[in-house]
Amino acid sequence: MIKGFLFDLDGVIVDTAVYHYAAWKKMANQLGFDIDEEFNETLKGISRMDSIARILEYGKMELPEERILELATLKNDWYVEMIDQMTEENILPGITDLIAQIKENGLKMALGSASKNAPRILDRIGLASFFDAVVDGNSVSKSKPDPEVFIKGAEALELKNEECVVVEDAFAGIEAAHAAGMKAIGIGTTENLPNADLILTSFEGVDLQDLIDQKLS
Ligand code: BG6
Ligand code: MG
Repeated sequence: MIKGFLFDLDGVIVDTAVYHYAAWKKMANQLGFDIDEEFNETLKGISRMDSIARILEYGKMELPEERILELATLKNDWYVEMIDQMTEENILPGITDLIAQIKENGLKMALGSASKNAPRILDRIGLASFFDAVVDGNSVSKSKPDPEVFIKGAEALELKNEECVVVEDAFAGIEAAHAAGMKAIGIGTTENLPNADLILTSFEGVDLQDLIDQKLS
């Protein structure tokens, strides 16, 4: 029986996935190479330092640790500039209504994000108080597809893993949910998320009870 939702943040609640992509692309361009959308799919759900390692490998660049840390800070500065412009208008379609239905039905919800900027974003868009727990990049040590973030989310909600459903836009995030024994709703396309238990383009018009009874049981 589903008793709680574990939400990824970037690309699920807000479209910050495009900001991450823009900032990583700018960094790669300054280093003299480019990244495309297909490669970017492999960065979704991955921590900042693991992302930069993958990007440098993709660009066939080896840099000293100090320079890598400098670049990660620079990328984050660009990213924070973008998220600091966000308001509740940036919440993705259907999310506010879904949260209202979760609350009305007495279900619990937690955030399960790899981002260290998650609390800042939740504050900016006015959703912080709706979450019963927040597990983010500040409290996990392993990137998705490791299930740590979702296992900690279920623990924080005092639910069994199988009582939680994960909402994700990343292939690695869906792998993480499955590794934790949870079902996963993918926000995206079957092409990007062939591993999802159910694919939606958004939560617009979605009835929570119908979703649980018909699609997730
Ligand atoms: C994830 C994003 O949610 O957070 C990744 O999908 C991002 O693209 C990661 O790299 C870490 O985010 P931050 O904000 O800590 O750099
Ligand atoms: Mg995401």
